[in-house]
Amino acid sequence: MCGIVGYIGKRDSQDILIEGLKKLEYRGYDSAGIAVFTANGLEISKSKGRLAVLEDKLRDEPLAGSVGIGHTRWATHGKPSDVNSHPHTDNSAKFSVVHNGIVENYLDLKDELTAKGHVFVSETDTEVISHLVADEYDGNIVEAVQRAVKRMRGAFALGVLTEFEPEKLVAVRFASPLVIGIGEGENFIGSDIPAILEHTRNVYILNDGEMAVLTRDGVELMTTEGEFISKEIYHVDWDLVTAEKAGFDHFMLKEIYEQPKAYRDTMLGRIADDGKSVDLKELTMDADYIKSIRKVHIVACGTAYHAGMVGKTVIESLARIPVETDVASEYRYRSPIITPDTLVIVVSQSGETADTLAALREAKRNGARVLAITNVVGSSVAREADDVLVTWAGPEIAVASTKAYTSQLIAFYLFGLHLAGVLGTKAEAEVAALISAMHELPEQVEAILEQSAVLKQVAESISSHKNLFFIGRGVDYAVAQEGSLKLKEISYIHSEAYAAGELKHGTLALIEDNIPVIALVTQEELYEKTLSNIKEVKARGAHVLGIANAGSEVEVSKSVDELFAIPKTLPLLSPALSVVPLQLISYYASLALGHDVDKPRNLAKSVTVE
Ligand code: M6R
Repeated sequence: MCGIVGYIGKRDSQDILIEGLKKLEYRGYDSAGIAVFTANGLEISKSKGRLAVLEDKLRDEPLAGSVGIGHTRWATHGKPSDVNSHPHTDNSAKFSVVHNGIVENYLDLKDELTAKGHVFVSETDTEVISHLVADEYDGNIVEAVQRAVKRMRGAFALGVLTEFEPEKLVAVRFASPLVIGIGEGENFIGSDIPAILEHTRNVYILNDGEMAVLTRDGVELMTTEGEFISKEIYHVDWDLVTAEKAGFDHFMLKEIYEQPKAYRDTMLGRIADDGKSVDLKELTMDADYIKSIRKVHIVACGTAYHAGMVGKTVIESLARIPVETDVASEYRYRSPIITPDTLVIVVSQSGETADTLAALREAKRNGARVLAITNVVGSSVAREADDVLVTWAGPEIAVASTKAYTSQLIAFYLFGLHLAGVLGTKAEAEVAALISAMHELPEQVEAILEQSAVLKQVAESISSHKNLFFIGRGVDYAVAQEGSLKLKEISYIHSEAYAAGELKHGTLALIEDNIPVIALVTQEELYEKTLSNIKEVKARGAHVLGIANAGSEVEVSKSVDELFAIPKTLPLLSPALSVVPLQLISYYASLALGHDVDKPRNLAKSVTVE
């Protein structure tokens, strides 16, 4: 995910910017750059690749000056390249911008500015901001930024410099984090606290719609409407390692808590303003192609495969196209029947998983079109697929995938609704109801996170067991698979996920006194059946935790020992909520057992071997 750092003071800014960016490396990036006011004016140095590449460049051609902005880019609009790297500038090269987030309406703004004579050199949305600010400038950079921001839609944090007012650094926050570091005779901006922690522990944390104008001697805070505000100084008492995790003990926990944002970001710009349809403008597949699809294959590994299991139900129920799911390591060896009317969807957080990539190539070799759902824009999977649907979860660092999985679910909901819109397979009212329920998901996840203390207790009691079962029907079974994988990989407790109705065909023999069973009961149509299966395990001594919808507690609690209620949503969307308690249970169980939560034994974040 992109990182921002900015400095205005008396010291040379180049090293401060580079060191600040290094502190943000943990967020992931594919290119980096800085802009500094030098004796020659506003100069920019940027390059694709690691910060070391930029450092080499700066060693040969240093940028000397005491005001500057820096950026590490995690590609969103446009591939990783020198020209797409930040900072961006306008045609006069008098303005420079670093940006985190997405400008949703950048294409409209780009068209308008192009018509006025602006010439663009990159594929990014950020370049539009530098041209827009330049276009709005009439002698006051603060007002120009305010006017520009009013015209932008989306989520963004900005650092802006102009050669016309070299004593000012302007910063804006709009749904993308930004902090202002307060020093003595110097001030800083950072997308995260680690970027500036070496220099100051006193910060202002900007809220959405707020901006700051930094000079060497002070910081003026205001809204983007121009109303001056005051803020309490926040004193950071974390160490650097904690700061990287934004105060959380582990990346996994941080990433679990980032899910509401990941849901919002993945939906951003993909739903029509009237809330009645989904339009995935980034897809090149047209309506004729969509109408020609006869079957879909979803291929992925691990957690991404579990998202694909939910994806199957989503596509079949919304678009009425038959879907097969395959584990990528099996796909090409089973001679799958791939025809030109097969759409193959590969799902991969990293976009680098060897088996998934091989499946993609197999699909293409057989003439199928491939859609990639991935979290990494410039990844191999993204580059080789015909279409890409990016999950805007931001970099995932913990080996155990959490926010990437739930963002993949959101991507499947969006894609299913997109197909339904083209094929006319769902009534307008049903589509609108699903979209409206999707908008509620982020807050509903927040409500679950608020109950983490209860789940911690559950996890602590589970942690003394050697074996455990997850059961569910329909999409609950798919979520059970994910819950079981999560628990295994970080707590090392053996668990199995079973389709609730399948237990009695063998597995019931393993149910003994006190064995924990986590039963997902979110599908109203299947309540009675699942409750009967719960009774089967209870009768053999199991201790059952039910995960059920709010409103069904009375009914479900009669059959279980403990109950955790999740907010009510539409049945198809429930995986986006019901998996969250399972993630937290796994996290706290691992913690209780003293394991390395973020780096479990034997596992790697990205599996690039077959
Ligand atoms: O990067 P990918 O999504 O392709 O990775 C696939 C799996 O290796 C991954 O989901 C793995 O199962 C996770 N560690 C599970 O938490």
